[in-house]
Amino acid sequence: MDIKKVGVVGCGLMGRGIAEISARSGYQTVVSEVNQELLDNGLENIDRSLTVAAKRGKLSEEDKNSTLGRLKGTVSMDGFADCDLVIEAAIENMEAKKKILASLDAACPPHAILASNTSCLSVVEMAMATKRPSQVVGMHFFNPVPVMNLVEIVRSIVSSDDTVETAKAFGKSVGKTVILAKDTPGFIVNRLLMPFLLEAMRMLEAGVATKEDIDAGATLGLNHPMGPLTLLDYIGLDTTLYIANAMFDEYKDPLCAPPIMLKKMVAAGQLGRKSGKGFYDYGK
Ligand code: 3HC
Repeated sequence: MDIKKVGVVGCGLMGRGIAEISARSGYQTVVSEVNQELLDNGLENIDRSLTVAAKRGKLSEEDKNSTLGRLKGTVSMDGFADCDLVIEAAIENMEAKKKILASLDAACPPHAILASNTSCLSVVEMAMATKRPSQVVGMHFFNPVPVMNLVEIVRSIVSSDDTVETAKAFGKSVGKTVILAKDTPGFIVNRLLMPFLLEAMRMLEAGVATKEDIDAGATLGLNHPMGPLTLLDYIGLDTTLYIANAMFDEYKDPLCAPPIMLKKMVAAGQLGRKSGKGFYDYGK
């Protein structure tokens, strides 16, 4: 299927990154938020990101302006009425995602593909909230979306070949390498990443090493761009807890069990960068 217009639900960290790369790649793009204030904030962030990219010579001033010309905001599902593909990047909660998918199903044209940027939830469960389950896939991007070169396409047991192929082609067209995963909690990347991050936390809890040394072990010993505790702060501890719980519920593997420290930090509002404090302090 030929994708011309793309919708993105949610203009938070992930949604605005997806909207940015979509518009930059030449697609008419509409992005939604639940209210005007959040939408304005998200669109300002995209503008800022494009300005930084232009200053660094990654795109011309003209390309920046044409990208912004292709990007529109909406606070209503009606804004997606003529989209060919809509990617949901809202809160990581199954009930909320099912409601969004059902509303998109009612608002979008019959041919449209609906995708979810979920990092761990069941795609088939979301798909069954619509009347077009074969046209629903997972499209899992990575933070920061404009920089990270990967998208995981998640095929549910009812996704059609056409839907998967169209999603793959779209991922490639926005400059990402595409990998394909079955609809299992954590897919490929979080199934690799979560046990590693949780183990770093368990090492800190057990007093094996300081947080700085655990991080240096990964950055200097494994050439990772960020140490695991820095990455946990970057991802957000609440998001991590959510993913770990979802994976543990399914696999019952102790490697996915959230450490006590993670639960306590989330309860205390120490969520990482977004709250100003996690394993490290980020000030206000
Ligand atoms: N938006 C756009 N561009 C950004 C950016 C952002 N938010 N953050 C950084 N960049 C760009 C910079 O402009 C710079 O570009 P240039 O090299 O062309 O000038 C480049 O990225 C490098 O940035 P910096 O020099 O400022 O900083 P670093 O070299 O420290 O890189 C980083 C920052 C790219 C975030 C790097 O530390 C990194 O790759 N960290 C790991 C990120 C990661 O693992 N993400 C996946 C998380 S897991 C996930 O998302 C899945 C979910 O389900 C949990």
